[in-house]
Amino acid sequence: MPTISRRTVLLGSAGGLLTVGGMAACSTSTGTAVTSSSQAVEMAERARRVAGQRTVTTRLVPRPATLDLGGPMVRSWAYGDSVPGPLLRATAGDRVVVIVDNALPESTSVHWHGVALRNDMDGVPGMTQSPIGTSSQFTYDFTVPDPGTYFYHPHSGVQLDRGLYGVLVVDDPAEPGAYDAEWIVVLDDWVDGTGQTPDGVLASLRRGAGAGGMDHGSMGGMPMGGMGGDMQSPLLGGAGDVTYPHYLINGRVPSSPVTLSAKPGQRVRIRMINAASDTAFRVALGGHRLTVTHSDGFPVVPTDTDALLIGMGERFDLVVTLGDGTFPLVASAEGKSGQGMALVRTAGGDVPAPGVTPAELRKQVALGTQLRATPEVALRAQEVDRTHDLVLGGSMTNYRWTINGKTFDEADPLEIRQGERVRLRLRNMSMMFHPMHVHGHTFGLRKTEARKDTVIVRPMESVEVDLDAVNPGQWATHCHNIYHAEAGMMTTLSYRA
Ligand code: C2O
Ligand code: CU
Repeated sequence: MPTISRRTVLLGSAGGLLTVGGMAACSTSTGTAVTSSSQAVEMAERARRVAGQRTVTTRLVPRPATLDLGGPMVRSWAYGDSVPGPLLRATAGDRVVVIVDNALPESTSVHWHGVALRNDMDGVPGMTQSPIGTSSQFTYDFTVPDPGTYFYHPHSGVQLDRGLYGVLVVDDPAEPGAYDAEWIVVLDDWVDGTGQTPDGVLASLRRGAGAGGMDHGSMGGMPMGGMGGDMQSPLLGGAGDVTYPHYLINGRVPSSPVTLSAKPGQRVRIRMINAASDTAFRVALGGHRLTVTHSDGFPVVPTDTDALLIGMGERFDLVVTLGDGTFPLVASAEGKSGQGMALVRTAGGDVPAPGVTPAELRKQVALGTQLRATPEVALRAQEVDRTHDLVLGGSMTNYRWTINGKTFDEADPLEIRQGERVRLRLRNMSMMFHPMHVHGHTFGLRKTEARKDTVIVRPMESVEVDLDAVNPGQWATHCHNIYHAEAGMMTTLSYRA
């Protein structure tokens, strides 16, 4: 367990900021907030534009839809008539224009998860824009600066736990592309339209109800494992708060899996996205080792592993050299029972049973916090100008999840200034894991330098991350368990002038 200093002076401000006993106390504000509509946001966007910039235009229509999950038919909300929604693809430096026509019965928004974009296009109602009302339109228009695997989803209530998500791939013009094929693999936990809705799930969590699919069984354990640990034990301590009837890969239940085809011996790049709301997955491909090449869009030192743990909001790119036959790609719901499955097929062979558990799941499991940055993407060495502690707390008792003891409504923004090197100390004092996500920035993990925008903080663990404050505005910073975020575990990284 990490040592926790009880009193920390935060650097770099005019004497206003202190944390006492782990609670951020803000005696004076250090300036006025740099709003989404400010000149600074416009200037940062201008700096991202390249000569001869291409424009990629699409339209998204979030609307009620009946979805076939490969047997189970569910009434839900989706971008169009499928889940995941349309794949959006651009090249780094492109301008992306997305016209959103809201055909849902309530207001919505679209957030571009992981993209270091202009603040007024970040899609957070109440922080960067007004909600997109029913039957209204909003046009997102922004430059995508960095290549990588991203995804989009609403930032409105618990809409993410419907079918409202899709993948955004930003290609690298300089990518050597040392692979024969590319597969996009999206993981999800599914409840909507099975007699429950995400709003209903949140309401029962708030009531502390045991009924309605809540799973308290695996709460309270200490974190276990890591590379070479006891893989029979859950890696995360807490398992999530919700029991889901289905786990999906690319919108399908395991009894009717999608098939990913290639030839034996081919090298395939897999872009994997965890779009779940309350479930981390342990992923393995039967009979294969995986090489992790990117984490949250950014390159890491290629790392071989049998299996991989992926938290909500995380993305990993993998490269795998395929054997000869038919193999299960399994995403086991970590600490829960159930799994998603896809088929990898390079030849004939029997279709594995939906419940198949490849031995790789119990071998070496890589976590995002163990990956290392390649030298090109590591943050350059620099003094830290300002440190903020984010103490993560809460419990199932009244379903209130907090940062520094406060819910989002009560929270003091985390003030920073443009140009600073900022350190965030994520200190989990709860018995649940939290995949912590910062909008608009890709931080570097202090220990491994790996660049990420979403990092799992296990129960009673601390993770320190550094970022360069080069993207002015107001940025949501929260747990990517959508129920935790909605129950308060969110704050604002707030640029001040
Ligand atoms: Cu994908 Cu604010 O999150
Ligand atoms: Cu959380």
